[in-house]
Amino acid sequence: MALGEFLQQLDDLAGDADTAFSTATDVGQLEAARVEFLGAKSGRLKATQKQLGSVDKTDKPAAGKRFNEIKQRVDGAFKAAQERIASVHVASEATGKFFDTSLPGKRSGLGHLHPITQTIEELKDIMGRLGFSVADGPEIEDERHNFEALNIPLAHPARDPLENFYLATAKKTSPDVLLLRSQTSTVQIRVMEKTPPPIRIISLGRVYRPDTADATHYPMFHQMEGLWVDKKVTMADLKTVLRIFATSYLGRDVHVRFRPSFFPFTEPSVEADMSWGDKWIEFGGAGMIDPNVLSAVGYNPDEVSGFAFGLGIERLCMRRHGITDIREFYRNDVRFLHQF
Ligand code: DAH
Repeated sequence: MALGEFLQQLDDLAGDADTAFSTATDVGQLEAARVEFLGAKSGRLKATQKQLGSVDKTDKPAAGKRFNEIKQRVDGAFKAAQERIASVHVASEATGKFFDTSLPGKRSGLGHLHPITQTIEELKDIMGRLGFSVADGPEIEDERHNFEALNIPLAHPARDPLENFYLATAKKTSPDVLLLRSQTSTVQIRVMEKTPPPIRIISLGRVYRPDTADATHYPMFHQMEGLWVDKKVTMADLKTVLRIFATSYLGRDVHVRFRPSFFPFTEPSVEADMSWGDKWIEFGGAGMIDPNVLSAVGYNPDEVSGFAFGLGIERLCMRRHGITDIREFYRNDVRFLHQF
């Protein structure tokens, strides 16, 4: 090869390399340019070096000298580009402005339903299969629905201001005394007021009581209320429904026990316990609807009867998952929530 041709080739190569390295803006482009010009196997410098052998013997020293100069120049261009891109990266990481489209993206985390919401959905499912449809009621209630129609008279301790969240400001806008409902039994009254029997509903939602939070108490929690009114509904129906419910939600080895109790809105009243092995846990109250309640909503207690029950939803969920502190549900610590 003639010396002139060789030198021209070197100059072209140097020009191209300058352009490639000075216009590279990210690590990917830099690496592509490095491979093209400085690649050890098939880079353009390497290819040119091989042609050095075909240059006339007398021209070789000049050609070799020039080759070395160009190689240094290309090396320098690569190093400069490398430093420039690295410094842009560092600076922009600090300012947060740099956007390297070649980096893998960060996936945003996918949320899911809160464990109590999941439990509510499952309870609706189980009770739905037993023919119960879902009813809703307001969380801000009046005294008729939270107390009076449920046969809880004015002097009853359950109406004590220390046991309830009465709404002080509501007095200004409403003639009724209002409170955050303390039980979902309110929905029994709302449904029966509007609907003639037969009725078979559940209602799931929040209730509020001014309890100090500890492992088993929280000032807001959830209940599932059940109500079945028809001709000749009996205590046997109540026991059957609760037993099927308990075994469906908690497993076949669960037992249900009723203890005599008292609630103003049921007669007779029971407390429902469930057990695994020999440990009994109370899940809520139940009973046959008191005739006074049936009368209060305009039903004829001589024609229809019914049962009602109210269960704590947190307690069910805690039992099912082995959760030992009710406050976990409301700390919103994702390490807890992620487990459901
Ligand atoms: N409302 C009661 C409570 O919050 C629970 C309850 C007991 C509901 C008996 C009922 C019932 O429907 O029949 O403690």
